[in-house]
Amino acid sequence: LLLSGIAGIALLLGASARAAEDDDLQKAAAQAFKPIPAMVPSVQGNPVTREKIDLGRMLFFDPRISASGILSCNSCHNLAMGGGDNVETSIGHGWQRGGRNSPTVLNSVFNAAQFWDGRAADLRSQATGPIQASVEMAATPAHVMSVLGSIPEYQQRFATAFPGEQAPLSFDNLAKAIEAFEATLITPHSRFDQYLEGNKAILTAQEKQGLKLFMETGCVACHNGINLGGQDYFPFGVVEKPGADILPPGDRGRFQVTRTASDEYVFRAVPLRNVALTAPYFHTGKVWDLEQAVSIMGVSQLGKELNKEEVAAITAFLRTLTGEQPRVELPVLPASTATTPHPEP
Ligand code: HEM
Ligand code: HEM
Repeated sequence: LLLSGIAGIALLLGASARAAEDDDLQKAAAQAFKPIPAMVPSVQGNPVTREKIDLGRMLFFDPRISASGILSCNSCHNLAMGGGDNVETSIGHGWQRGGRNSPTVLNSVFNAAQFWDGRAADLRSQATGPIQASVEMAATPAHVMSVLGSIPEYQQRFATAFPGEQAPLSFDNLAKAIEAFEATLITPHSRFDQYLEGNKAILTAQEKQGLKLFMETGCVACHNGINLGGQDYFPFGVVEKPGADILPPGDRGRFQVTRTASDEYVFRAVPLRNVALTAPYFHTGKVWDLEQAVSIMGVSQLGKELNKEEVAAITAFLRTLTGEQPRVELPVLPASTATTPHPEP
């Protein structure tokens, strides 16, 4: 009886030590990360209104703002598939292959830095880029304005979305409307977010082990905050550069923006929200398997060979970052008119 009493106390002590450890992990996680809010966030300098959101959604799906008339934002940021295109590097105008993998637009409103190299400050300045990029939509602002200007419903919608403005139909306002729509593309209520909000039982032991490793081995140093990344830039290969198949010498990352030697091969720490939906990985899209991406990070960023069990646990944790996907209604776009410019033949 005495023995079994001691065993019982030991068992209880063990259990309470584990519970305390569980508490500590949850507290540390709640400090390093933040849940995605359930409500659409506000955007600086661009009040998010129903009218802007609706117009932005139309523009996001309208291929007529591309030179070919077939590429829309949704071509490369497919909202039915996690907001990316799930190919190595995007196929744009004239079937040209771009140099980089398409990042998801989901939760991009929370990123402090846009693009793999941070060359756009916010979603507003971002949106005008792909429309004009020769390897993406290859259109000019003049083409876009004459397309939209030839369609009465667009004229009227720009006027309602930007009331009181002299010339509401403008390239700037197009960018603002798209930005407002993108602010609605958020994915709350992931299992990890429910954990952050206090539901400690929602993660499995393996997922918690993965979270612990993510924090203790140092992933969290670069992948933190609300999007577990998307806030800052780091060399890809802090400790050891990955092979040229994954990091080819031609794309020097942030160096191309700042022309500063220390920015060579510096890229944005990618946001890891919904990462289970956004294969293939890295700016080159060369890695299809999330476990392999995790092992590469261990070696290249931390100089650590993670073992099989550690990789599996971290990957299991990363899969808990998949949130509730936005339910986007496909807009009905107004028909072209006799004066709408035709797409490039
Ligand atoms: C990057 C939105 C059209 C391919 C981005 C980002 C956003 C975005 C918000 C930055 C995401 C981040 O850094 O986390 C849009 C919008 C579009 C559009 C609103 C329509 C106006 C396209 C098209 C393609 C494309 C048509 C493919 C042909 C890419 C690629 C990047 C990117 C490859 C990464 C570029 C880099 O980092 O250098 N887009 N996109 N996008 N988008 Fe788009
Ligand atoms: C990319 C996870 C540590 C900086 C990625 C990706 C994953 C990941 C899965 C690819 C995501 C995608 O392409 O969508 C991890 C894990 C880590 C870790 C599990 C710990 C073992 C770090 C650290 C840093 C860092 C410590 C900074 C020193 C980056 C950068 C990229 C990236 C810059 C983008 C690389 C590129 O494609 O150019 N990380 N990461 N990561 N991570 Fe990490």
